[in-house]
Amino acid sequence: MIDFHTHILPGLDDGADFLADSLVMARMAWAEGTRAMVLTPHCHVGKYHNGRERIITQTSVLRQHFWEEGIPVVLFPAAEVYLHADLPGQVVDGDILTINDMGKHLLVELPFGRVPPYTEEVLCTLLHLGITPVLAHPERCDPLVANLHFLEQLVSQGILIQMNAGSITGDYGPVTAQRAELLVRRGWVHLLGSDAHSINQRPPGLSRAIRQIAGMVGGTAAHVIGCANPLAVLEGGNPSGFNQTLAPVT
Ligand SMILES: [Fe+2]
Repeated sequence: MIDFHTHILPGLDDGADFLADSLVMARMAWAEGTRAMVLTPHCHVGKYHNGRERIITQTSVLRQHFWEEGIPVVLFPAAEVYLHADLPGQVVDGDILTINDMGKHLLVELPFGRVPPYTEEVLCTLLHLGITPVLAHPERCDPLVANLHFLEQLVSQGILIQMNAGSITGDYGPVTAQRAELLVRRGWVHLLGSDAHSINQRPPGLSRAIRQIAGMVGGTAAHVIGCANPLAVLEGGNPSGFNQTLAPVT
């Protein structure tokens, strides 16, 4: 399994504070089947200044520590970028790290609990720039899942969805779990992440979620979400298979 959303790079955001935490989190993830992690520290103007060079450098440092500690989890650099009106311009300027620095996909976080009026325009501008937005855990954004037609429109235009493992397992409550299941059953979920922030709060781990997804839509679809799709995106390609057929909104 590939964990597509983690905050284990130490000291860069509200995730792991120290290297020791990162090492424990990686060992926890490995023990339950995660073989690779995408490092996605927050990138938020005025709050977290995590530009491309900084994240790539810190990823190399953490890789070295993993090697010295004998932790075989493979690390890929990326960022969880906060949506704002100037995001496309910032991406063009080159200081925003795309997923695995391939210049093809960007993990985008919406403001908590609201969908700004410029959301679709920003996402579509990124698409026109050749960069596919990956929406970070939309199932946790009330107004977004309240309007499934808008979400369907985004997905049909090629925008990808990353769901949090804890959403489907009920860690955020039954309402979020129901929404997560709905998105999975519609075939709108492309990628899965733990969104791990610490050893205790939102720890890493995908296996329970993968088992539940397999129970809902089958083992092949679970494999696509947990392994095949993330591999494709990390290589700068497009997800395939399970998510190509969209169920109609009813
Ligand atoms: Fe996150």
